[in-house]
Amino acid sequence: VAVGHRDPLQWLRRQETQRRAAGLRRTLNYRNDHEPLVDLASNDYLALSRDPRVVRAAADAAGRWGVGATGSRLVTGSTRLHADLEGGLAGFVGTEAALVFSSGYTANVAVLTALTRPGDLVVSDAANHASIIDGARLSRAARTVVGHLDVAAVERAAAAEAAGLLVVTEGIFSVDGEAAPLQALHRVARRHGGLLVVDDAHGFGVVGPAGRGSAALAGLAGAPDVVITITLSKALGGQGGAVLGPREVIDHLVDAARSFIFDTGLAPPSVAAGLRALEVLCAEPERTAATRSRAERIAALAAEAGFTPTAPAAAIVALPVESPAAALAGAAEALRNGVRLGCFRPPSVPDGRSRLRLTARADLTSEDLAAAAHALAAAARVRSDASNG
Ligand SMILES: Cc1ncc(COP(=O)(O)O)c(C=O)c1O
Repeated sequence: VAVGHRDPLQWLRRQETQRRAAGLRRTLNYRNDHEPLVDLASNDYLALSRDPRVVRAAADAAGRWGVGATGSRLVTGSTRLHADLEGGLAGFVGTEAALVFSSGYTANVAVLTALTRPGDLVVSDAANHASIIDGARLSRAARTVVGHLDVAAVERAAAAEAAGLLVVTEGIFSVDGEAAPLQALHRVARRHGGLLVVDDAHGFGVVGPAGRGSAALAGLAGAPDVVITITLSKALGGQGGAVLGPREVIDHLVDAARSFIFDTGLAPPSVAAGLRALEVLCAEPERTAATRSRAERIAALAAEAGFTPTAPAAAIVALPVESPAAALAGAAEALRNGVRLGCFRPPSVPDGRSRLRLTARADLTSEDLAAAAHALAAAARVRSDASNG
């Protein structure tokens, strides 16, 4: 390739070499439909992504409304389906109002940027998702990152002089799957006149009364100083995101959130799928219980195989391993044994915190779990080889 006097891609190659040496190269694994694999890596917690009722709703909406939203939400991208989904989500979780976004990522960016001003302070858990971090960076507020699950540190940080305060946490943490101490965090936020923001991507549909999520479980869903973000891409099996909270907050986001205003609306088939999946979740709350009990079982199987699993608060079970190489080797060996596991390495997790990550799904059968036990035993064997070698 002809380049000028300075090769503009040279630094990319240098970084690639370093990442390769550190076991941090990533590859896209393009899956086939209906692979004969036991899937313990997806976020399809309630097994709704292929539910025939949900699939049909999406197909019908494509026929009726088209495959795309055709514009941003404030121009042509809002349909009656969007209004129905917003009403449905708010009613289910127990908030005054909701606003649908094209993704959970843009929902988090909206909350962090539009609900802060210069002079405000964002206090954020060190394990918060990249979309929260990016939203905080885009905001013009000051930021303090506090230790993971450390309420005392949140309290100390929140005491700093600031015009306004946002305390931000995940409801169920996406990597290790623990629950945040929401009531304690809410007390801190309230004492300092701040808002508590709960990203419940991994709690919605899985925890709380009939799957209403972490904030509902903590009795905080309708509180005037609590804002919840969710994604439609995990328990609901689809695509898209939403912010739930007081009407005033939602109205403000419509006026001020750039990741809402300058983004094409969520496509009607995804909106219809979300709406139908929500109806299934309401009609079949046993899916939530099934997911939780399978997560417990997966953790027990991992412990039997010699891992030290985290105690699952929702659908996620994490298995800490010694190195990125051990995580890669373990995941590859599980795949050879017919089971797909998640493999988390930096920068998705901090240095030294590589993990295998397993997720439960409501429809895992006892045969699937037997295959998981076998694959975990195989992964445990290569993991120790990778660490020793
Ligand atoms: C905790 C958390 N927040 C936000 C998101 C972003 O949601 P989305 O994939 O819908 O953009 C994810 C995952 O993707 C997540 O795990």
